[in-house]
Amino acid sequence: MAASVTLSPPPSAALRSQCRSLLPVRPSALLHPQFRPSSRPPTRRFSSRIQASSAATLQPELEAPRTSTLATGPFACPVCYEPLIRKGPPGLTLPAIYRSAFKCGTCNKTYPSKDKYLDLTVTVGTTKYTENKPSGTELFRSPIVSFLYERGWRQSFTQGGFPGPDEEFRMAQEYFKPAEGGLLVDVSCGSGLFARKFAKSGAYAGVIALDFSENMLRQCYEFIKEDDTLSNSNLALVRADVSRLPFQTGAVDAIHAGAAIHCWPSPSNAIAEISRVLRSGGVFVGTTFLRYTPSTPPIERLIREMVLLSYSFLLEEEIKDLLLSCGLTNYSSTVQQSFIMFSAQKP
Ligand SMILES: C[S@@+](CC[C@H](N)C(=O)[O-])C[C@H]1O[C@@H](n2cnc3c(N)ncnc32)[C@H](O)[C@@H]1O
Repeated sequence: MAASVTLSPPPSAALRSQCRSLLPVRPSALLHPQFRPSSRPPTRRFSSRIQASSAATLQPELEAPRTSTLATGPFACPVCYEPLIRKGPPGLTLPAIYRSAFKCGTCNKTYPSKDKYLDLTVTVGTTKYTENKPSGTELFRSPIVSFLYERGWRQSFTQGGFPGPDEEFRMAQEYFKPAEGGLLVDVSCGSGLFARKFAKSGAYAGVIALDFSENMLRQCYEFIKEDDTLSNSNLALVRADVSRLPFQTGAVDAIHAGAAIHCWPSPSNAIAEISRVLRSGGVFVGTTFLRYTPSTPPIERLIREMVLLSYSFLLEEEIKDLLLSCGLTNYSSTVQQSFIMFSAQKP
């Protein structure tokens, strides 16, 4: 299904771009005025459950405006996976999230939404403990890498066979047809290159751009702010670890993970989580660089094994094996040089 792109860079250029894929505000008082909540009703309903709840009293400073609803959305506590209690305006627009308070009634933990994103990481609230993740995660937390990502870094992936964002988006949309009208989560969204395209497409009731990097999410916020067509869209920014997805089981219709699996600390934990949060019939689409393909010459294969083994650059059979072992079905893929787009579905 991919367009045939006749890119055949020398192996060294492809390898360089593959390695580069790894290398890589204080909250404003108010959101930009253009992000006022839309008065228009959503055209489609979320498939995730929305329930009334009176289980918890939120801290006074987190109290939301009078027009608030007390509800759970798709969000769950990353510690116990119980639905988060949300107090504030409904929806996934940036202002609605900003003006909402999120709390786990079981863990009694509150999750801040007053930066440019909603922080749903387990370490929220720790005062002494800090955690350093592996380099594939830490690298992208840097402000400079986040700034450069859509300003040249991502474009270099074409040397490894990536068709480029427009074509990758078109291919992903084909796989996502069964999930149209639902909730899409762009896991490891970076600065939101694809999340913004999914939101603009109007094909989904809501889009959540999720990443572990605070600076990628801040950069994504800046891009959204610059784009009038996104100002009222149901596009939320969430900080979370892919190995601990803050969603209720079966609450998500579609998950996209572009150029990401090779950066994750544990691809198996991540895929298990993706499988958990997808609803029956939900679709997962990912892309990555393959360690090598059957057409890779033996000498290059050897080099790639040596250079790339310490990272999670997988072979296609490993990806397929992992997806199926996490309970996903209907595996399919498109391969072009080192680029692979793969898809699988929750039965
Ligand atoms: C190469 S970028 C891909 C960005 C974008 N999806 C794309 O297609 O260009 C990889 C992203 O994975 C994110 N990432 C790495 N480890 C992660 C983790 N443990 N949880 C969530 N995201 C993670 C990084 O912050 C980074 O934004």
